[in-house]
Amino acid sequence: MNILVIGSGGREHALIWKISQSPLVTAIYAAPGNGGVGELATSVSLDATDHDAVVTFCQEKDIALVVVGPEAPLVDGLVDRLDSENITAFGPSAHAAQLEGSKGFTKDLCAKYNIPTAAYGRFSDAALAKDFVTKKGAPIVIKADGLAAGKGVIIAETLDQAHAAIDDILGGQFGSAGAELVVEEFLVGEEASFFALCDGDTILPLATAQDHKQVGEGDTGPNTGGMGAYSPAAVMTDEMTRRTIEEIILPTVRGMKAEGHPFKGVFFAGLMITTKGPELIEYNVRFGDPECQVLMMRMKSDIVPALMACATGGVDKVEMDWHPTPALSVVMAANGYPGSYNKNTEIGNLDQAGQDDNTLIFHAGTKQQDGKILATGGRVLNITALGDSVGQAQDRAYAALDQIDWPEGFCRRDIGWRAVARERENEKEREQESE
Ligand code: AMP
Ligand code: GLY
Repeated sequence: MNILVIGSGGREHALIWKISQSPLVTAIYAAPGNGGVGELATSVSLDATDHDAVVTFCQEKDIALVVVGPEAPLVDGLVDRLDSENITAFGPSAHAAQLEGSKGFTKDLCAKYNIPTAAYGRFSDAALAKDFVTKKGAPIVIKADGLAAGKGVIIAETLDQAHAAIDDILGGQFGSAGAELVVEEFLVGEEASFFALCDGDTILPLATAQDHKQVGEGDTGPNTGGMGAYSPAAVMTDEMTRRTIEEIILPTVRGMKAEGHPFKGVFFAGLMITTKGPELIEYNVRFGDPECQVLMMRMKSDIVPALMACATGGVDKVEMDWHPTPALSVVMAANGYPGSYNKNTEIGNLDQAGQDDNTLIFHAGTKQQDGKILATGGRVLNITALGDSVGQAQDRAYAALDQIDWPEGFCRRDIGWRAVARERENEKEREQESE
């Protein structure tokens, strides 16, 4: 079969890499892909917002499955349109994509179906929002309702900060995404992500991951799309995973179905593991980037039947095997990211750096030009490795990264630090016990 993958990030490179291993696949098209997908897929310049053009392309190329990587085309209704043309697509309808597209929508669903999450209020009036915040006290969390590229969440340590955030959001800092806001109780705990595929009725649990959102080492500085990730997340014990499925994911599946908008695609649940157990921070309705890269490295089975089953049903019947060992991914970004940065700088020695069998370099913001790889985006490369431990995966990823010749790029040197510290502590305890 022929498959079209929409998107241009490291997530899409990892999906294409995984899909390309399927014996079911004849050809892969990437719209538009990036400088790394060339050997695996044919890059096409399709505008994902031009639904007519996507439909025509799928008909001409006999596309059996469209895999939508990012959230914007989902919220924009691309899958609804493909469905109406009988073109099989992986991803939710526009209505179901509101789980990511509107924080207020998700909070209301949680309230109605008794899904554990932070207490909240929804506001489009600044005075009412400020009253609510003043009654609740700080710290408190203020969120723009709509899609804000991961930047629409303010953790306010003081009431003054909370009031300023309310004015900024409702004053238009995030455009129409901030026409409404959500005020949330501040949750304390360790964060983790859980991924599960869903066909509207049943689920196929995938795996857990943790990411590093902040640009600076020790998780400091401004938030980014993600500077690195690893899987699995140690805090997601079997018991926490079971509770996440029973208390959060399955009630969401039932709720969305009962509301007349069954969810098909991947649930990417952002969780806070509190003293009470898992609570939902947010849903994303697509794979995480760079979480997808570590998931694809760990996935042993063919992904194509699982993606197909999300659209056609029976996803719970799909067999899925995993490497039990961890994977870790380090993001290389252009100097200056997440602020402004230079484009079209040359990256050298990639072939040499990617030679280790346990390591893969996924491209994000790159392009090929005259036989060279140029950096074109903020997040540019994802150096991803498998290891017997998170520490070993980390060593392998940095060993590969250090061979890359790109003076205009940087990375965090501490991706996985919590997990590695935990591994060292466990190691020490074992040594003490055996003494
Ligand atoms: P979100 O975009 O909703 O995932 O929020 C971005 C980040 O803000 C999360 O990954 C958390 O680190 C933090 N965050 C969001 N909501 C809360 C909350 N209610 N309590 C504590 N931290 C939060
Ligand atoms: N890495 C976080 C995200 O993809 O939203």
